[in-house]
Amino acid sequence: MSANRQFLLARRPSGRVTHDDFALRETPVPEPGPGEALVRNLLLSFDPTQRVWITDVPQYLPPVQIGEVMRAYGLGRVEQSNDPKLPVGTLVFGMTGWQDYVVGSSRGMNAFTPLPPNLSVPQETMLGVLGPTGFSAYFGMEIGAPKAGETVVVSAAAGAVGSVAGQIAKIHGCRAVGLAGSAEKCEWLTGELGFDAAVNYKAADWKKQLRAACPKGVDIDFENVGGPIMEAVFNMLNLRARVVLCGLISGYNETEDESSRANLSPLLVKRVRLEGFIILDYAPRFGEAAAQLGKWLAEGKLKHRETVIEGLENAPETLNRLFDGEKIGKLMLRIA
Ligand SMILES: NC(=O)c1ccc[n+]([C@@H]2O[C@H](COP(=O)([O-])OP(=O)(O)OC[C@H]3O[C@@H](n4cnc5c(N)ncnc54)[C@H](OP(=O)(O)O)[C@@H]3O)[C@@H](O)[C@H]2O)c1
Repeated sequence: MSANRQFLLARRPSGRVTHDDFALRETPVPEPGPGEALVRNLLLSFDPTQRVWITDVPQYLPPVQIGEVMRAYGLGRVEQSNDPKLPVGTLVFGMTGWQDYVVGSSRGMNAFTPLPPNLSVPQETMLGVLGPTGFSAYFGMEIGAPKAGETVVVSAAAGAVGSVAGQIAKIHGCRAVGLAGSAEKCEWLTGELGFDAAVNYKAADWKKQLRAACPKGVDIDFENVGGPIMEAVFNMLNLRARVVLCGLISGYNETEDESSRANLSPLLVKRVRLEGFIILDYAPRFGEAAAQLGKWLAEGKLKHRETVIEGLENAPETLNRLFDGEKIGKLMLRIA
């Protein structure tokens, strides 16, 4: 390919993103400078946080600026290199963005991480369950400190992080209860992943179903959604329960974000510990998480699924799938 297609942020979106929020441009494939490598982007991760990155609300990374390439994690292959730590042919992981090619290096803030040669697992697995998605479930559950026999409720349970978090709860001997947005997703959770119960939060009587699924109350809320779902789970928390605040996706497309508003009195009355986390803080321990998740995978204790869309030109619509729930497991875009 002689051109580099790039999606630049054209304006700050309101609600769901549209093509007009981005400008698609073609530029020459960049040349790596001294100490740099040229990476062909192969597979992009789609994460709800990308919708937050293109707002100007206070957040944990600088927002993507108008005119900048849309930020995204991805997996690529080194095609030219002046960086001895990134030989040609190496698969790398990093912030590759919505573009065909990217220049970077193995050093600095946005360093590319080389993956081991002769990988025996598919690229989709590396970017999903053995990547930041799996790590978020692993360290989030560590914060929750599950004990055998406890009840763990996971929201967005048929998504990338939630599906792994619920299975880790099972590995720790807990009762895992998932909330998801369709009967098909609920069947996947209980039929394939081993959740003890799953509730479709779009059913009229979902709160009643959730109470029935948690006869001993809730010891850990692995919170991915916020809003009415979070509040319903708060009302079921046991004494000294833990809330792992992983995400609040129900508010990411909203200007008036109500996702974090919930009655906090159950947390006071039940002496609950709530802790938010950002996975980037755990980077020094990613190797440990990858090793443990890999072991569980090999032992058949962890199952996973990816929804892979094709074609860089479909990036904006792909982002919306996270909010429409039009996918199961981890959402990715294959671009080469
Ligand atoms: N703290 C961290 O470092 C960190 C790292 C990774 C992810 N996260 C957070 O973890 C959560 C899950 O992320 P993910 O990557 O695993 O995404 P995901 O779960 O694979 O995809 C998002 C899912 O959320 C559900 N959803 C979307 N809008 C909803 C709404 N208004 N109400 C209820 N459910 C809704 C949809 O499933 P249904 O069909 O079931 O509705 C959708 O499939 C997000 O909040 C994300 O920001 C945090």
